[in-house]
Amino acid sequence: MTGTDDWADWLDAEIDAIRAAGRWRTHRRLDACGPVGVLDGQPVVSFASNDYLGLSAHPAVCEAAVAAVARWGTGATASRLVVGNRPVHDDLEAALAEWKGCEAALVLPTGYQANLAVLTTVAAGDVSVLSDELNHASIIDGLRLARARLHIYPHNDVEAVARLMADARGRVVVVTDAVFSMDGDTCHLFELVELCARRGALLVVDEAHNVLGPDLPHQHAAVLRVGTLSKTLGSLGGFVAGPHQYINLILNRARSHIFTTGLSPADAAAGLAGLQVLRSPEGAELVARLRQLVDRVKPAHPSPILPVIVGDEAAAVAAAAALLERGILVPAIRPPTVAPGSSRLRVTLSAAHTDAQVADLLAALADLGLQP
Ligand SMILES: Cc1ncc(COP(=O)(O)O)c(C=O)c1O
Repeated sequence: MTGTDDWADWLDAEIDAIRAAGRWRTHRRLDACGPVGVLDGQPVVSFASNDYLGLSAHPAVCEAAVAAVARWGTGATASRLVVGNRPVHDDLEAALAEWKGCEAALVLPTGYQANLAVLTTVAAGDVSVLSDELNHASIIDGLRLARARLHIYPHNDVEAVARLMADARGRVVVVTDAVFSMDGDTCHLFELVELCARRGALLVVDEAHNVLGPDLPHQHAAVLRVGTLSKTLGSLGGFVAGPHQYINLILNRARSHIFTTGLSPADAAAGLAGLQVLRSPEGAELVARLRQLVDRVKPAHPSPILPVIVGDEAAAVAAAAALLERGILVPAIRPPTVAPGSSRLRVTLSAAHTDAQVADLLAALADLGLQP
């Protein structure tokens, strides 16, 4: 047998295993700007994006990106430590730090890289890391890269955090999503802040999906806030905000910052424009509109992520297909992204949805005997 045969056999076996488990996936083509578009030739309304305020199609955000391309070209052209920041990188970092009430912020090309940057910097060495069992994959990967001494605590169990902390060796980091991306529930942020402050632990909170809260009102000495430009702000990119010393160390240590080309000027400009809209009266109206839509679908639910638990994998896929037949795009989420037996539809709402679109979604779910 030749080496080529070895690889061909391996590929066949890997692909067959995924297909046999019913988990083979391909990209579909969505031609859209905002929630309305055409998916593989079929008109759809999407409830699949994380564009919670519809800012990815906001005229001011689009114009900022176009103007940035005209002034600085398309690419950042090298690592920012090598070639330098464009002025828009500095402006964006200052605006993000101010928004989060923190001393400083560092922007990275994605939120995924932001979590790698933070965790490979603070979770390595003589550190005990306490991590929620439902944290995002980028947190898990950051902890793996850091070779962290890891304790995974049951979802949102603050008492378990306290117990683990009492026994933990070395410095302690607690890391949690603020809003859990597949369940749409929120962490007990204020309890965790207090607990960490008492133990002298560092809290890393991933606010990627934070648009309706929970929000820390002011800077805490030992809290690092990770966020993205790619969801609420309608652009692409990630960031971490916190005290100067932490941000400076991350800038110097994090390989996902040092060894990657900087965020493109257009993405940075779009993120900055998105933030300006969010912090304007128009932004407050968009957030209020989103809150109203969420309440309509599930009163008092804390985020625009609304899981519809189906259970069985095949049933979740069938439900997504049935919605698609009615022109409604909602993804089926299955293991390994969620635990076996908890396959679901992941509905996400946006301020850009109309009342009629949300009414159609609710009617279609009801016809399937489902509700968020
Ligand atoms: C909780 C959480 N953190 C981080 C990320 C990564 O962000 P980005 O898409 O900007 O890489 C995501 C996105 O999927 C997420 O859901």
